[in-house]
Amino acid sequence: MIKDPGRLDAVGMVRTARERVVARVREAEVVAAALSAGRNIVLEGPPGTGKTTLLRALADGTGVPLVLVEGNAELTPTRLIGHHDASRVLTEDYRPENFVPGPLTRAMTEGALLYVEEFNRVPEETMNVLLGVLSEREMHVPRFGRVAARPTFRLVAAMNPFDAVGTARITPALYDRSCRVAMGYQDEDAERAVVGTATGGPVDLVARAVRAVRITRDHPELRIGASVRGAIDAVLIAGELATVRGQDDVDEPVGEDAALAALTGKVTLGDAVSRPVEQVVVDIWRQAGEELGKA
Ligand SMILES: Nc1ncnc2c1ncn2[C@@H]1O[C@H](COP(=O)(O)OP(=O)(O)OP(=O)(O)O)[C@@H](O)[C@H]1O
Ligand SMILES: [Mg+2]
Repeated sequence: MIKDPGRLDAVGMVRTARERVVARVREAEVVAAALSAGRNIVLEGPPGTGKTTLLRALADGTGVPLVLVEGNAELTPTRLIGHHDASRVLTEDYRPENFVPGPLTRAMTEGALLYVEEFNRVPEETMNVLLGVLSEREMHVPRFGRVAARPTFRLVAAMNPFDAVGTARITPALYDRSCRVAMGYQDEDAERAVVGTATGGPVDLVARAVRAVRITRDHPELRIGASVRGAIDAVLIAGELATVRGQDDVDEPVGEDAALAALTGKVTLGDAVSRPVEQVVVDIWRQAGEELGKA
């Protein structure tokens, strides 16, 4: 193996991911290998497919810090890089000690993994700052000076493929400077394991909730379906709701109420659909029960 201060412990990363993440072994191996080789990553997948969970486990496994940033329209270059403390500037003028580093500056100086969620929502000028850092591994901050990236600094950008907000011009440059790993929905067994671990709920309820969210993803009346989070929520709510109603078991009304609360806000109706989302979700919950052979 090449001796390189920027190398990351890919084997340790994969070991931790195997302990903490359900399945996703291939993705863990490829992301770990790419990070270890000094590459930056685009993790592309719909919401709730375990992108953050995987990356946290990989970062813990390699012992480098993870700096997590939520990408949105308010993530200006200043927020990302940092700013001079205004009140101290008034009394002491601009000094390096008055600089409050933002997540990019921290990640570069600590040699961290900078994880930007929802990268495609970030304003273009902020993306340009990141692209500059990827090319140069340093940046110049006015009145603060040069910030150099430690060898282990990497960028991981998460993107939702359904969410193409005005980034068409910038993304080719990002893809050119990084490697892309797709995170699609997991298979039914893996989703059951995810929901079972997250909730500790009864197996038949877990199976039904997973089947229901899977039906939402290619249901003719829905434009956007629910992630595994919908199934986790349904199972957790159903358990609590049964207790609130003084019941030992999750019966049909409890299950339906839990499914309504868990799923109606997470799915999006198709344009031509005129009936309410509540009816669609109840139908899906019943269909899931019928398919699994229980009411
Ligand atoms: N493979 C998995 N192993 C363990 N937990 C998982 C897995 N996939 C999803 N989860 C669970 O599902 C939920 C959503 O996962 P996570 O937040 O990692 O998704 P994400 O891809 O980062 O979503 P978003 O795009 O919305 O940020 C979490 O509760 C997480 O624990
Ligand atoms: Mg995430």
